[in-house]
Amino acid sequence: MRKKIVAGNWKMNLDYPTGVSLFSEIVNMVKDEIHGEQIVVVCSPFIHLHSISALAKDVTNVFIGAQNLHQEEAGAFTGEVSANQVKSTGASHVILGHSERRAYFGESDELLAKKVDIALKHGLTPIFCIGETKEERESGDFFQVIKSQLQQGLFHLSASDFSAIILAYEPVWAIGTGLTASPEQAQEVHAFIRKVISDQYGADVAAETSILYGGSCNPKNASDLFSQKDIDGGLIGGASLKSRDFLDIAKVFN
Ligand code: G3P
Repeated sequence: MRKKIVAGNWKMNLDYPTGVSLFSEIVNMVKDEIHGEQIVVVCSPFIHLHSISALAKDVTNVFIGAQNLHQEEAGAFTGEVSANQVKSTGASHVILGHSERRAYFGESDELLAKKVDIALKHGLTPIFCIGETKEERESGDFFQVIKSQLQQGLFHLSASDFSAIILAYEPVWAIGTGLTASPEQAQEVHAFIRKVISDQYGADVAAETSILYGGSCNPKNASDLFSQKDIDGGLIGGASLKSRDFLDIAKVFN
């Protein structure tokens, strides 16, 4: 049975003390309120990783993730953070291919494939983001866009390596806009993604791949989204910055 996952993406928010304090709240609420097999991942800015990893070390269903890493092992890349450095903080996951990195930092499919490789080399679990823009949705090209993101970013991997990947479908037009994809829209794309994976790696790998939905997911719409056959959880932005909202989303899988 593939994992049910609720991951929070804090993005570039929260100073050090506020982030550590929020994470402490989340961990305590997970201990009290999460009773299913679901796992919670918190993807914070780099500055919080080590401290919140320490707070999570005795909690088996809470994991820590970064939001990016550099594709090289080490060296003269001022300001960058390597996979090895992320791993050394105690983090276990890393978001790669987020639309904001693709759009604002020009991250290509080719670059992201390298980032996936070095993340896997260091034992990190990529949460790999794919999704179409508003224009691509309106033009009807979105299935091809999503298939290409999968092919160029991930399909160089062996079946064994691909099995470590968590996918996140994030329609760009739903991110931060309040314009959540309908459960039917999201399910249609998730089912397509699973079919593309099956064609490449076989039905067993496809069946075991967790595919998260991201884009204005909140406590009001999470249940309808997560009840869809091919939606295995969410990658949560704004709502992950409020412990009550984030836990109410995670509790859907109780
Ligand atoms: O990575 C998750 C993020 O892109 C979704 O943001 O604020 O629409 O939940 P939000």
